[in-house]
Amino acid sequence: MEKHLLLGQTLAFDGNAMHDWQGAVRHDSAGGVLVQDGRIVTTGPGAALRSDHPDAAVTDYGDSLITAGFVDAHMHYSQTPMIASWGKQLIDWLNTYTFPQEMRLADADYARQVADTTLDLALAHGTTTVCSFCTIHPGSVDAWFAAAEARGMAVVGGKTCMDRNAPEGLRDTARTAYDDSKALLDRWHGRGRATYAITPRFSPTSTPDQLAALGALWAERPEVLMQTHLSEQLPEIDWVRGLFPQARDYLDTYEAFGLLGARGLYGHAIHLEPRETERLQEVAAAVVHCPTSNTFIGSGLFDMAGLAARGLRIGLATDTGGGSSFSMLRTMAAAYEIGQLRGTALHPAQLLWLATEGSARSLHMGGRIGHLGAGAAADLVVLDLASTPAIAQRAAQAGDIWDAVFPTIMMGDDRAVRDTWVAGRRVLRQGTQGISRTTTQTSAPRPDRSAAWPKP
Ligand code: GUN
Ligand code: ZN
Repeated sequence: MEKHLLLGQTLAFDGNAMHDWQGAVRHDSAGGVLVQDGRIVTTGPGAALRSDHPDAAVTDYGDSLITAGFVDAHMHYSQTPMIASWGKQLIDWLNTYTFPQEMRLADADYARQVADTTLDLALAHGTTTVCSFCTIHPGSVDAWFAAAEARGMAVVGGKTCMDRNAPEGLRDTARTAYDDSKALLDRWHGRGRATYAITPRFSPTSTPDQLAALGALWAERPEVLMQTHLSEQLPEIDWVRGLFPQARDYLDTYEAFGLLGARGLYGHAIHLEPRETERLQEVAAAVVHCPTSNTFIGSGLFDMAGLAARGLRIGLATDTGGGSSFSMLRTMAAAYEIGQLRGTALHPAQLLWLATEGSARSLHMGGRIGHLGAGAAADLVVLDLASTPAIAQRAAQAGDIWDAVFPTIMMGDDRAVRDTWVAGRRVLRQGTQGISRTTTQTSAPRPDRSAAWPKP
């Protein structure tokens, strides 16, 4: 495959920005990213890469910012059609809006349509990897991975398992949860760019038998991920206490059944007991911060500073449809605002790190995705740092890169996404298209904002 050189400002990370962002970040105001065969070959000063690789096709993004594509570490693709549903907190929200919507994915055609819409929205927002809960229906898992495969995207997914406290039609059993998950995992895990996650929804909707069955499956197949929810809302935690009177805390309802481990992803993790934090740290599990969801559903304020200081692995996620946006820019903004409410101002470098490297590490894909460096997949986003009049007038006052990028983090959305690249292929807003073939310097076209996007 031909070589492609992308020119622009580049932003990359070598270390953990939550601990030392100055030491971790590499910014080049005139950088380049050389791409071939779906991967990043190298990054460096744009002019030097140009003269070293005269055979490469060049796309010049001017002063736009090229960074790793965003990684959304927790969401529910089935809930895309009901995002922004009004007025309920977690348990009522699940019963009123979520479960009726998830029921509709029994129809495999509908599931395919929602998977297509979700991934097109993700790409339009610069998100190149999505880790999603599917529904109880095995067809919803097939639809998810097939939609990602058609787009060349690395995604994570798994059949949501529930055998109690869910309506008829959305319940499986311990046996079928095990059998279906195993069959799906065998079909999809490691096929192309697909990764499977065993997915008990949360302890209130699984019996001890079902949690044990899924724990047994994870023990048989420890290479896959496991995703669930943990300590999101106080009434939920009270409910868990009543359902599992013998458990030491919420995390123990997973731990007791073999569902605590380094490849586990625990969404929300807001109201943690000290023992829970210690155990998550000891086993090197990942917690996933879902800030727009936590404010939208009224869940609480995630302790980013405290958990990062303990060295926990932390991903960042939209959690749509509980989250109120498909945009990881909007998600970073919400993480910043929650940090402020807790007395910590996250630096723009840390927010970008969380949305790329942090999320990738939480998925055990560090260095392979979410990373602007040699050997990583060429999954990239190109951000216009002056995408609206409001952002442009603020960015015009900027004294340095952080001052220039922070207005886009706080006020940006899909209009800031000038281009998204997946596995070395340029994905335009009008749909997935091949890269423009040219060996002379071209100015990349600005997206046509009049185009209808996406088509459901
Ligand atoms: N807890 C259990 N299920 C869900 C869900 O679908 N969304 C959110 N935000 N929390 C949950
Ligand atoms: Zn969730």
